[in-house]
Amino acid sequence: MTCVLITGATSGIGLQLAQDYAKEDWSVLACGRNQTQLNELAQTYPNITPVAFDVTDLEQVQIAFRDLPQFPDLWILNAGTCEYIENGNMDTALVKRVMDVNFYGMVHCIEALQSLLRHGDHVAVVSSIAGEMVLPQSQAYGASKAAVSYVLNVQAAEWAKQGITTSIIYPGFVKTPLTDKNTFDMPMMIPVEEASRKIRKQLAKRHSHIYVPWIFTAIVRLIALLPYAWQQKLVEKLIK
Ligand SMILES: NC(=O)c1ccc[n+]([C@@H]2O[C@H](COP(=O)([O-])OP(=O)(O)OC[C@H]3O[C@@H](n4cnc5c(N)ncnc54)[C@H](OP(=O)(O)O)[C@@H]3O)[C@@H](O)[C@H]2O)c1
Repeated sequence: MTCVLITGATSGIGLQLAQDYAKEDWSVLACGRNQTQLNELAQTYPNITPVAFDVTDLEQVQIAFRDLPQFPDLWILNAGTCEYIENGNMDTALVKRVMDVNFYGMVHCIEALQSLLRHGDHVAVVSSIAGEMVLPQSQAYGASKAAVSYVLNVQAAEWAKQGITTSIIYPGFVKTPLTDKNTFDMPMMIPVEEASRKIRKQLAKRHSHIYVPWIFTAIVRLIALLPYAWQQKLVEKLIK
């Protein structure tokens, strides 16, 4: 049975991916901190195995990956968080919290999984289109995701020499508990089921860069080509 490991599988995009892969008869290693939610998931789907750890703790990640019951063919590093900087008031503790989960969490997972990778394996990381352009209040979140994409683009070139495929996933707005907290307009937001379907389809084709939904992320990428001052004006119109 093909095996996928998914971090952040207790909620939102990761949860939907875990359920959908389980329905397609994959063996799913579902990761998160919330052991109760992971156990409930495993009770519903016999082919889901819970793996509880905190991505911000390198030792926990190393132990969890060392003791996996099966070698994943596909790793989806999806665990993430979002906090915004209000009114330009820089908050170091907030930035560190976001970087700890989104950036160092991903780095910890890569360090822990690299010795387990075999020729033909596939590593996917959930970044964000927010890392590709200047977005209001996103000093911490946008920077963490820009860093994730940068690291993975470099890592991809190294892994390619060993026959390892890499995918970077750039979601726009997807309806999940993470975006439910947002108080601003979220243009072209898609349901999580649609995000999962599109992500799984492109992962199956081993696309290196996956943009979901395509039109919104294409608009953002076009805006990102403009001078920063123009980007800010356009983003103010796009996201109120
Ligand atoms: N929703 C969107 O519109 C959107 C857009 C662009 C990018 N993304 C990215 O997509 C990913 C999933 O987002 P989502 O919207 O599905 O968010 P979500 O519903 O809030 O889910 C986040 C997941 O990450 C896990 N997680 C958080 N901190 C963790 C930690 N320290 N250790 C281990 N797991 C941790 C949570 O599990 P536990 O609480 O059980 O640990 C949860 O399963 C994130 O990387 C996010 O940045 C989302």
